Amino acid sequence: MKILVLHGPNLNLLGTREPEVYGSMTLDNINNNLLELGRELGVEVKCLQSNHEGGLIDALHDARTWAGGVVFNPGAYTHTSIALRDAISAIQIPVIEVHLSNVYAREEFRHVSMIAAVCKGWVTGFGWRSYELGLRGLAEMIE
Ligand code: DQA
Repeated sequence: MKILVLHGPNLNLLGTREPEVYGSMTLDNINNNLLELGRELGVEVKCLQSNHEGGLIDALHDARTWAGGVVFNPGAYTHTSIALRDAISAIQIPVIEVHLSNVYAREEFRHVSMIAAVCKGWVTGFGWRSYELGLRGLAEMIE
């Protein structure tokens, strides 16, 4: 079983980016933990990050050829991108939306997700562990 963990814009700066909101783990730390968890779960995990909407769409399209599902933090594109929503609808593999912060406890514009309705599940507010919970849930879902 193979799973793509996909990170959107500005998440490459984790560790130094607003640590009071997003925590002190770097993206490499998070990815290494997820690779390790994948080994425990018997899942091959591939991690990718892009700051570009088109790059994220390409990664989703590509995932349909090799992955059983996607754990996806689209960053701010969550709140704006109909193109990402359409890409998720198009690929027909389960996608779990994850966020480090609790987006509902933040500004109102973060309360809207363009992609939630086409995702199979949703995890928010557990810091880097949102990814861990998303990966565990997705692995069980597609087993
Ligand atoms: C985020 C929440 C988004 O609102 C924000 O734009 C991000 C990170 C999160 O993981 O909490 O970039 O997706």
